[in-house]
Amino acid sequence: MSAKKITVVGAGHVGEVCAQRLAEKELAGEVVLIDIIEGIPQGKGLDQWQSAPVEGFDTRVVGTNDYGPAEGSDLFIVTAGIARKPGMSRDDLLRTNASIVSSVGEEIARVAPESIMIVVSNPLDVMAYVMKETTGFPRERVVGMAGILDTARFRAFIAMELDVSVEDIQAMVLGGHGDTMVPLISYTSVSGIPVSRLIPPGRLDAIVERTRNGGAEIVAYLKTGSAYYAPSAAAVQMAEAIVRNKRRILPAAACLEGEYGQEGIYLGVPCKLGAGGLHEVLELELNEDEAAALARSAEHVRSTIGRL
Ligand code: LAC
Repeated sequence: MSAKKITVVGAGHVGEVCAQRLAEKELAGEVVLIDIIEGIPQGKGLDQWQSAPVEGFDTRVVGTNDYGPAEGSDLFIVTAGIARKPGMSRDDLLRTNASIVSSVGEEIARVAPESIMIVVSNPLDVMAYVMKETTGFPRERVVGMAGILDTARFRAFIAMELDVSVEDIQAMVLGGHGDTMVPLISYTSVSGIPVSRLIPPGRLDAIVERTRNGGAEIVAYLKTGSAYYAPSAAAVQMAEAIVRNKRRILPAAACLEGEYGQEGIYLGVPCKLGAGGLHEVLELELNEDEAAALARSAEHVRSTIGRL
């Protein structure tokens, strides 16, 4: 199972690596890479397509500055927007990226009104909201990427701590993407063994803190931009769940309609993703601290939306 056409909007680092991963996994017959900068998507698309004979994939990758070639896409991954520089929070990107994301949304609604969208632009939870408002698409067809990235960082750090395979580590992170994310220790396990039996509380707290600052740690190293290998891997995992109708349970940003006591905002929650996009938001039982942390995270997202 694969899609006819998937379009990646934004040919920066996240977008270009998304396109390459989609092609290498042959998740669509055609991958379209769009950017406003003349020549960049065309050059990157052609370069990727020229890797096809070596890597052995048949997905055509094409780059473009206009939305014509994206017409009829089944799925969009939206990465357009500016990235953080050292010292900036994701919220510092708010106004600039809101205007970029809403103009992208208008184009998508025009050329592919039945499409599904995975939003990656930051601040993630607010940009997903802007996209849903702009397009008028139902929540099933507008989801945001962040939880897989945040849990991937958490899992990677736990694997390092225990010197075990990342494959054996399951984790769930809720809440907004950023400093208010809520790692659920009680739902984190190593081959079914609760992580709290394997890592003492102090070490676990340190790992949670490093996860929270996972994006900023990369920004501080790179200085000129933010992470892209793990963010693109996460977005493409969501795309795969959708186009292959895998019905995976993955942490992602969804528009809540009463779940977790929230209404009308995007927040990271366990989602079932398959054909058509979001099938279901799973409601987990939370302890008092987790519920309070999630409510604070929701409040943060709500107040950021309010600043728009
Ligand atoms: C990060 C950015 C992409 O977490 O939000 O790396």
